[in-house]
Amino acid sequence: MCICDLGNPYSSTRLLLHTSTPDRLLCREKELSFIEKFIKCTLLGTNPGSLYMSGAPGTGKTASLTKILEKLQVTENLCQIIFLNCMSIKVSQSIFVRLANELSTTCKYNSKNAFKYLENFFVGTGSKILLVLDEIDQLESNNPDVLYKLFELPFFPNFRLTLIGIANALDLTERILPRLQTKGSCLPALLQFTPYSMPQIVSIIQERLGKVGGDIIDPMAIQFCARKVSSMSGDIRKAFDILKRAIEIVELEIRKSPALGNKKVNISHVSAVCNQMFNSQLAVNNTYDGGLPLQQKLIICTLMASLKDNAIKEILISKLYECYCKVCKSRQINCLSEEEYNNACSLLDSQGILSLTASKTKDFRSLKVSLRLQENELEHALQDKTLMSSILACGIPK
Ligand SMILES: Nc1ncnc2c1ncn2[C@@H]1O[C@H](COP(=O)(O)OP(=O)(O)O)[C@@H](O)[C@H]1O
Ligand SMILES: [Mg+2]
Repeated sequence: MCICDLGNPYSSTRLLLHTSTPDRLLCREKELSFIEKFIKCTLLGTNPGSLYMSGAPGTGKTASLTKILEKLQVTENLCQIIFLNCMSIKVSQSIFVRLANELSTTCKYNSKNAFKYLENFFVGTGSKILLVLDEIDQLESNNPDVLYKLFELPFFPNFRLTLIGIANALDLTERILPRLQTKGSCLPALLQFTPYSMPQIVSIIQERLGKVGGDIIDPMAIQFCARKVSSMSGDIRKAFDILKRAIEIVELEIRKSPALGNKKVNISHVSAVCNQMFNSQLAVNNTYDGGLPLQQKLIICTLMASLKDNAIKEILISKLYECYCKVCKSRQINCLSEEEYNNACSLLDSQGILSLTASKTKDFRSLKVSLRLQENELEHALQDKTLMSSILACGIPK
């Protein structure tokens, strides 16, 4: 019997490679126990403190903390937790307003009275708060004092608060530490998440796929994918993404030639996807329809954000390149060379996603770029709502 007759094992395997919080987090035992001890000692104990968790994207920082909080909420009677993703905070100062409004049930606070409210909140209330600020580096750009104040909060006499900050940048606290150091005890505890190694990526994938997935993906292909990802970034989401795309290629091959039967994902499928992702070779002959490559998505999202930020309908291709590089830099993603970027724009033009309009000078750098699709159509083309909304929420970095 053909494997595709059994429901669709290809799409169920793709579903197993999801990026929401998993049931089990492998290879993070040390980190999980560190976080648990920290919370028990500070929030549930009597010691004030803050923790800064850093590491490259896709190394399990958010998932690890989420898992521990889930566990402690069951085993201990955890007090109020406020979990904010700082990507959604445009002006760093407004973090205190967000915090005050989260804690208060009645009033709406503003930048003038929010901090005063917070200072008074803890006086008289027996409760302690755990404040988790994910992507905390987003608060750094326009006002470093805000970060400094946040890391001091747990040590203010009135504040019964424990702070956990999470971000990619390893040196964030080093940059603010000089000022914290003068206060001695205000230093945050540090926990670093190293990128996943090849064997770790293999075991995480194998655990996810279980028995079913083993029939769909050749173990050699998993090893190949893990080696590639560990050598590039150690971002587990990339590994999932590569395998999902490779499965889609096989599905398409089977649809074209049903006689292929229960074909497995092999090294050549994974290698084709890796080439497309990592070598910034823009696949002109995109042979499968699994959403656009990351770099093209980034260009489109940057275009959307630039047009929105400036309330304009078109932008110079060279100006857009500057913005695109800033977006890549802020996300620690290597950007394309200007030539590769120009080719990508031409490709997106030929695909009808954006439009390049020539100027009189016929110089490529003075081409104007505009969007041809509506936001909801783009959302469909990108198949990556998270990336799109986070770039749109942050705007173009200064
Ligand atoms: N050790 C792991 N085991 C299983 N899945 C993992 C592991 N680490 C990360 N993941 C998967 O990758 C997703 C992204 O991880 P996340 O914690 O958001 O990364 P980070 O916050 O470091 O960018 C998680 O939601 C989870 O699905
Ligand atoms: Mg995260």
